[in-house]
Amino acid sequence: MQVKVANKAGFCYGVKRAIDLALTQAKKDDGPVYTLGPLIHNPQVVQDLAQRGIQEINSLDHVQTGTVIIRSHGVGPDILKKAAEKNLKVLDATCPFVAKAQKYAREMAEEGLPVFILGDPGHPEVQGILGWTNGKGIVVESADEISRVEHPKVGVVAQTTQPLANYQRLVEALQEQGVQVDARNTICHATGERQRAALELAQEVDVVVVVGGKTSANTKKLAKLCEETGTPTYHIESAEELQQEWFRDCRKAGLTAGASTPDAIIEEVKRRMNELDQMTNGDETMNQAMEV
Ligand code: F3S
Repeated sequence: MQVKVANKAGFCYGVKRAIDLALTQAKKDDGPVYTLGPLIHNPQVVQDLAQRGIQEINSLDHVQTGTVIIRSHGVGPDILKKAAEKNLKVLDATCPFVAKAQKYAREMAEEGLPVFILGDPGHPEVQGILGWTNGKGIVVESADEISRVEHPKVGVVAQTTQPLANYQRLVEALQEQGVQVDARNTICHATGERQRAALELAQEVDVVVVVGGKTSANTKKLAKLCEETGTPTYHIESAEELQQEWFRDCRKAGLTAGASTPDAIIEEVKRRMNELDQMTNGDETMNQAMEV
C-alpha cells in the first residue's frame, strides 16, 4: 500500500507562530506563563507545553501575576481590558489573519453597520471577533439563517476556517435582498490550501486518515470534506487509534492533518500505517498459503 501525504498538511503559519512565541516566553525567567484556553487544539502539544511550565487556564479570575498568552484564535477586548486591570503581561499570539477579521469587524461596527460573522457560534475565534463589534455582530452558520435585513448596508466577515462557497452564498443571499454589502473575505489561505489538497487526495485514494485534535474545527472540516467524496475517512488524534482493518484491500491510502498537528505526529501516523500494511499483507500471504 502506498501512503500519500497531502501536499499541504499540518501546522499553519498562525499556529507555528503561537507555539514559537510561547516557547520563547517559557525560556525567559519572567514569572508564570499561562495560556487562556489550550494554545492549540492538539492534546499532545498542550501536554508538552505544560511540561515546559506553560499552564492552561480558563479564566483570568485566579491569576494574580505573570504572562498570559492569547492564542491564535484571538480574544475580544473585554479579556484584554481585564488582563490590563490585573497588571498581567499579555503576549498576543492572535494569528494575523484573525486579527484582520477582528479589525474589519470593529471598523464596520464603528461605521454603524450590522456585522454578519459567518462561523461556528461556539468557536472562540468567532466569540473573539464578536467581542469587537460592540453588540453589532450577528453570528450565522450559513445563508439559510438570515432573515429580512432592515438596514440598507451590512458588513460581512468570516471565521478564517470557513469554506469559500459558504461565504459566497451568504454574501449573495444578502445582495439578493437589495442590501449593500461590505464583504470582507477573511478566510485564511492555509485553510483553503489544506482543504483543496485533502479533496484532491481523497479523490485518488482508497481510504483517508485525517490527523488532528477531535475538537479542532479545521481538522473536523477536512474530515468532513474527505467523507463527502465517498472515500472512507477516519479522523484520529494519534497513531495508536489506527486500525488494521481500515487498510484491508487498500492499494493507496491518503494522509492529511489539521493546522494544529505537528509534523512529528504526521510522521508517526505514516510510519504506523506502513507497519499495519505490512501486517495486513503478512496475514493475506499466510491465508493464501493455508488455502493452498
Ligand atoms: Fe491563522 Fe489560518 Fe492558521 S487563520 S491560525 S494561519 S489556519
